[in-house]
Amino acid sequence: MDIVICRDAEQAGVVAAELIVKKLGGNPAPVLGLATGSSPLGLYAHLKHMQSTGEVDLSRARGFALDEYVAIDYEHPESYHNVIRRTVVEPLGLDPELIQVPDGAADDVALASVLYEKAIQVAGGIDLQILGIGANGHIGFNEPFSSFGSRTRAVPLTAQTRADNARFFDSPDQVPTHAITQGLATIRESRATLLIATGEHKASAIGRMIEGPVAVAHPASILQFHPDLTVVVDEAAGARLVDGEHFLRL
Ligand code: GLP
Repeated sequence: MDIVICRDAEQAGVVAAELIVKKLGGNPAPVLGLATGSSPLGLYAHLKHMQSTGEVDLSRARGFALDEYVAIDYEHPESYHNVIRRTVVEPLGLDPELIQVPDGAADDVALASVLYEKAIQVAGGIDLQILGIGANGHIGFNEPFSSFGSRTRAVPLTAQTRADNARFFDSPDQVPTHAITQGLATIRESRATLLIATGEHKASAIGRMIEGPVAVAHPASILQFHPDLTVVVDEAAGARLVDGEHFLRL
């Protein structure tokens, strides 16, 4: 596990993007796991810059979004279909035909989940998974007490997550109650994972993820078993880390 503590959120985005490009190692057609949320926005912005300078070319990358709300209209600006298109696919010049998002609008979300998991396998698995983290330790929408063996499936959202995401909707009761998410086992099988977190509201979640016990009460703690995990945080999100001498401080 590599932990990088940056001065601020801006530096974290730059460092995370550079580490991703290094991890991809010139692979012309990598399979990416794509996160929504505010955490990776700086990272995506710097990847766009690196694309413009020719340092990386993602035009042939395939991508699988981590999650999508259930029963949301895809036209809604906060559907992850829209968020992924707006914040990742268009700015990075990805081929929309090569990017998939779970089908939260499906009549049979259980079947849609199984097919999504299968599609990841058929693509050869995820080369590099980009992750944020929820204040309650969720990754994707794997809420506390999600099984470490979980696969892509429909899950209920906790009250805290719905409250956290209410800022994206006109009113709290418009936040969907369920989502389809890649499972913890799905995420763990990615060949490399980069998790980015910034801000003091993430400090507790990051401290427990890296230095706490591995426990389903804190889903992100499963990443302690990940064979190739990089965590990039700013000072504020890294503030609860005790064993600082083992981490790279920029
Ligand atoms: C969201 C997403 C997660 C994301 C997390 C944190 O609900 N499902 O994938 O990592 O919550 O979001 P943010 O980065 O906006 O704090």
